[in-house]
Amino acid sequence: MNRANSVKGKVVVVTGASSGIGEATANHLAELGGVVVLGARRVARLQQVASKIREAGGQAVVVETDVTKRQDSEKLLQTALERFGRVDVWVNNAGVMALAPMDRLKVDEWDRMIDVNIKGVLYGIAAALPQMRRQGAGHIINVASVAGLKIFSPIGTVYSATKFAVRALSEGLRAEAGPSLRVTLISPGAVTSELKDGSSDADTARFVSEFYRANEIPADAVARAIAYAIEQPADVDINEIVLRPTVQEF
Ligand SMILES: NC(=O)c1ccc[n+]([C@@H]2O[C@H](COP(=O)([O-])OP(=O)(O)OC[C@H]3O[C@@H](n4cnc5c(N)ncnc54)[C@H](OP(=O)(O)O)[C@@H]3O)[C@@H](O)[C@H]2O)c1
Repeated sequence: MNRANSVKGKVVVVTGASSGIGEATANHLAELGGVVVLGARRVARLQQVASKIREAGGQAVVVETDVTKRQDSEKLLQTALERFGRVDVWVNNAGVMALAPMDRLKVDEWDRMIDVNIKGVLYGIAAALPQMRRQGAGHIINVASVAGLKIFSPIGTVYSATKFAVRALSEGLRAEAGPSLRVTLISPGAVTSELKDGSSDADTARFVSEFYRANEIPADAVARAIAYAIEQPADVDINEIVLRPTVQEF
C-alpha cells in the first residue's frame, strides 16, 4: 500500500519567500508539484521568484505581506483561499537575526526580532489554524534555528530567545493539535542567505560573516527537510528536524 503524501497539488503558503530558505523552499516545493503562495515585504523579489516558478511550469502567487501585521497574514490566507480554495501547509519562515552583546542595548533590534520571529509566527498560526480546523486537515511548519536549541551567547541571546519561543509554540501547538493537524519545527544551522547581514554592530557583523564563510551550506538543504516532513503519510507527524552543516560545531 502506498501511503505517501505527495507535495503535488498541495497548496503551500511560505512566508519570507523573497530570499534564502523561503525562496529555496518555494522553488523546491513548486518543482515537486506544490502550488505556492508567497509572502514577504519585497514584492519585486517575490515576483521574480514566482516568474521563475511559472516559467518552469509551476504555480505561484505573490502577496505583499508584513508578518508583524496580523491583517497581512490574514490577507495571505484569504488570497490563497480565493485562488485555490484551501491551504494544506503553512510555512512560518520569515525571520530576522540582529546579533550583538546585550550590553550594546540594541533595543530596537530586540523589538524587531520579537515582532518578526515570535509575533509573526503567532499571526501566521492565527491565520492558518482556523482554516485548517474547517478543512479537517493541515500542516503548520515553523522555522526556528539551532539557536533555538542552544543559547547563542554572547551575541545571539535575544535571537535565541525568539527561537526558543518558536520551539515552545510549536511543541505546545503540536500537543493541542489532535489527529487532523500536523506541526513541524525545522531547526537549521548556518545556511547561505541574507540573514547573516542583519547585525548593525560592527564587531559582531565581522564575526558572523566569518562564521558563515566557514560553515554555511546552501538553503535547499532546508527546503528538502521541509518537503520530507510534508511527504510523510497523513498519520505521521515529523515533529522536529535539526540540520547542520557537517562542519558546524555550534
Ligand atoms: N540562514 C541561516 O543560517 C538560518 C539558520 C537557522 C534559522 N534560520 C531561519 O530561517 C528563516 C529564513 O531566514 P533566511 O536564512 O532565509 O534569511 P533571509 O534570506 O534574510 O530571509 C528572511 C526572509 O524573511 C522575510 N522577512 C523579514 N521580515 C519580514 C516581515 N516583517 N514580514 C514578512 N517577511 C519578512 C524577508 O523578506 P522581506 O525582507 O522581503 O520582507 C526574507 O524573505 C528565518 O526564520 C531564520 O531565522 C536561518
